[in-house]
Amino acid sequence: MASEFTGKKTACVVGGTGYVASLLIKLLLQKGYAVHTTVRDPANRKKISHLIALQELGELKIFGADLTDEGSFDAPVEGCDIVFHVATPVNFASEDPENDMIKPAIKGVLNVLKACAKAKSVKRVVVTSSAAAVTINKLNGTGLVMDEKNWSDVEFLSSEKPPTWGYPVSKTLAEKEAWKFAQENNIDLVTVIPTLMTGPALTPDIPSSIGLATSLITGNEFLINAIKGMQMLSGSLSITHVEDVCRAHIFVAEKESASGRYICAAFNTSVPEAAKFLSKRYPQYKIPTDFGDFPTKAKLSLSSEKLISEGFSFKYGLEETYDQTVEYLKTKGLLK
Ligand SMILES: NC(=O)c1ccc[n+]([C@@H]2O[C@H](COP(=O)([O-])OP(=O)(O)OC[C@H]3O[C@@H](n4cnc5c(N)ncnc54)[C@H](OP(=O)(O)O)[C@@H]3O)[C@@H](O)[C@H]2O)c1
Ligand SMILES: *[C@@H]1O[C@H](CO)[C@@H](O)[C@H](O)[C@H]1NC(C)=O
Ligand SMILES: *[C@@H]1O[C@H](CO)[C@@H](O)[C@H](O)[C@H]1NC(C)=O
Ligand SMILES: *[C@@H]1O[C@H](CO)[C@@H](O)[C@H](O)[C@H]1NC(C)=O
Repeated sequence: MASEFTGKKTACVVGGTGYVASLLIKLLLQKGYAVHTTVRDPANRKKISHLIALQELGELKIFGADLTDEGSFDAPVEGCDIVFHVATPVNFASEDPENDMIKPAIKGVLNVLKACAKAKSVKRVVVTSSAAAVTINKLNGTGLVMDEKNWSDVEFLSSEKPPTWGYPVSKTLAEKEAWKFAQENNIDLVTVIPTLMTGPALTPDIPSSIGLATSLITGNEFLINAIKGMQMLSGSLSITHVEDVCRAHIFVAEKESASGRYICAAFNTSVPEAAKFLSKRYPQYKIPTDFGDFPTKAKLSLSSEKLISEGFSFKYGLEETYDQTVEYLKTKGLLK
């Protein structure tokens, strides 16, 4: 392999087409890594057009692999120093979350880790988890602080089945399964736990998380209701710039002392508080500020203290995060 001769480090990014993964690939190439990435359908040139464009930045090889296909990760992972498992099945509207999200997420993380165990070159694996695997529980209150010790309550989610319950269950069980397999097979695993992300995307379509994070600006009622539901279920509306999340992935991959889980959450807020901030900053858009008796205070906040004390610093403030997103939506024709 060419990279062995050039002394470059090689990283594998599982699920390259996605919002987070495609930016992660860009940052890795800019840092001089050789990158292998997997996509489900490498023949679909339109769906991978943004990855083909990234090939100008460096050595980027695109492999075909499906999370549910055991063995399909052996080739892309072989020879890699670091593996980032970013992909996850997302289908919030699913009628069958068990088969559409939960089972493939668990199977996927195991298939990727099995390939990592086989490839003797892999020194560290970084799995992308989610705040949805941390914050969801039956507790009431305000001012709770969640850290890496906390896990979402799968029993509550599976029995009460609140809207979108399948996604947090899939993320929680997949991360737990990853820890179990890593322990049993001596894999150096680190997980990154991001919140809802926004910030410019490389993907051909606008990622659904940007749609959610900007719903108050675009005025999309359906998505505004979705973020209200998100605050009620997950305890807050927490937002992080996608580039900071990608930077955190690379940071924990390169930091030898890193271990365990890392929450990566830049801003803790609530829907009414976010609306207040946004309407002040962007008076040109009709941003709703009257939420009736909807809770103004978030139930909880996520602490990134562990990541910060490891030496990481967030690059983007809330103003810049939204300014960049608004500019991005203008170039996409979604905002004037
Ligand atoms: N976006 C957020 O706000 C947010 C917040 C917290 C955590 N996260 C986590 O961050 C990670 C990336 O999220 P994202 O927003 O970048 O997601 P995304 O844009 O929806 O991308 C999801 C990726 O997963 C791939 N995928 C889905 N099912 C697959 C399967 N069966 N086999 C192989 N690949 C499959 C998709 O590939 P195709 O292109 O083939 O569909 C796509 O590349 C996920 O683990 C997510 O849980 C995201
Ligand atoms: C939390 O509040 C809800 C609604 O008021 C109530 O039904 C539930 O029992 C409370 N849960 C706990 C653990 O106190
Ligand atoms: C978070 O986890 C810690 C340690 O297990 C526990 O003491 C605390 O009650 C949890 N917090 C919440 C809000 O669930
Ligand atoms: C989010 O909450 C955590 C825990 O209370 C706190 O440490 C952190 O500073 C908060 N972040 C912001 C940006 O307010």
